[in-house]
Amino acid sequence: MAQKIFLCGAGFLGPNIATAISQANASGRNNILRRIQLSSRNPDRIHALLHDKIPADHLLPAVAVDITNPKTLVPAFKDASVVVSLVGILHGSPEQFERIQWRGAQNVAQAAKAAGARLVHISAIGADRGSKIPYARTKALGEEAVLALCPDATIIRPSIVFGPGDGFFNRFAKFAQFLPFLPVFGTGSSRFQPVYVGDIGRLVELITRDDPGIRKAADGKIIEAGGPDIFTFRQIMELVLKYTNRWRPIVPVPWAVGMVQGAILERLPPNLFTLTRDQVEQLRYDNVVASPPPTTHVAFDKIMADQGYSLTSVHEILPQYLR
Ligand SMILES: NC(=O)c1ccc[n+]([C@@H]2O[C@H](COP(=O)([O-])OP(=O)(O)OC[C@H]3O[C@@H](n4cnc5c(N)ncnc54)[C@H](OP(=O)(O)O)[C@@H]3O)[C@@H](O)[C@H]2O)c1
Repeated sequence: MAQKIFLCGAGFLGPNIATAISQANASGRNNILRRIQLSSRNPDRIHALLHDKIPADHLLPAVAVDITNPKTLVPAFKDASVVVSLVGILHGSPEQFERIQWRGAQNVAQAAKAAGARLVHISAIGADRGSKIPYARTKALGEEAVLALCPDATIIRPSIVFGPGDGFFNRFAKFAQFLPFLPVFGTGSSRFQPVYVGDIGRLVELITRDDPGIRKAADGKIIEAGGPDIFTFRQIMELVLKYTNRWRPIVPVPWAVGMVQGAILERLPPNLFTLTRDQVEQLRYDNVVASPPPTTHVAFDKIMADQGYSLTSVHEILPQYLR
């Protein structure tokens, strides 16, 4: 017997989650074979990306879906045991954020419910319905819509995710290559709790198992996923310099200057230096796991430790891909 796990979105996290599920298949850690299907607006890209990493019998052919169009979701989710909702955007108008991160998440939940599939929804630390930042506000509205339709869904809120191919550390590593300095807004004292993409993969692998103990812990719960260490923004820039083996001055940039930069750069086509005013604003806030966790949450490190996993430090992984 085999189950279908549908990964809706195949950007950075999707292929890493697929790899974790495939590794669990190969090791026999779960007694049911899980076949993974990913979606992309360019499904051929997925085949090229994964064919040498994942055995062919663990994968179903990738399909194209648009989460803003529910008609594309219904056939894709047919026969799925679990749907993992991974679509998110970093840039766009407030309307685009609403269409994708709120209404799109709602469409995914509706279609998963209609297919009789469990749902794992990836949100983000900082999701806040009262925020004036569209990313944070629509992440919260998406969570609410998901839980209203699928009260047993598990919501995962990562902090910044790191690993080969990430968009955050790699970007600052490129800055260190091309700029004579590394900027930090304000005093660079906002805190972050970077989490390894492989640990997010293992977490989703655990939750997508049909294990009554894990389901009891995770169904209907929010898991804020942060790594083992907390760093200020300035310390993160120091890590980038250490592991790229470069020296650059770290230069504080006043928030007001950051906003002016954002106002200019957000008008240009997306590129390495793309920065929006909302992203600058977001950097004012800590991005760390709530402590102590509210009763609606379950602790990431505990759920992982219960299954014999410890969380991976940036010091283990950054040197492997930033050098
Ligand atoms: N990476 C992080 O540090 C981080 C931190 C916190 C939270 N998260 C959240 O985790 C989730 C996954 O993150 P990620 O880094 O893997 O994101 P990502 O690399 O940006 O990938 C996003 C995916 O969304 C797809 N997509 C965009 N618009 C779509 C639409 N209308 N219909 C269907 N698919 C669409 C893209 O599809 P195509 O393949 O067609 O381009 C891509 O596969 C997101 O919800 C993100 O907000 C990520």
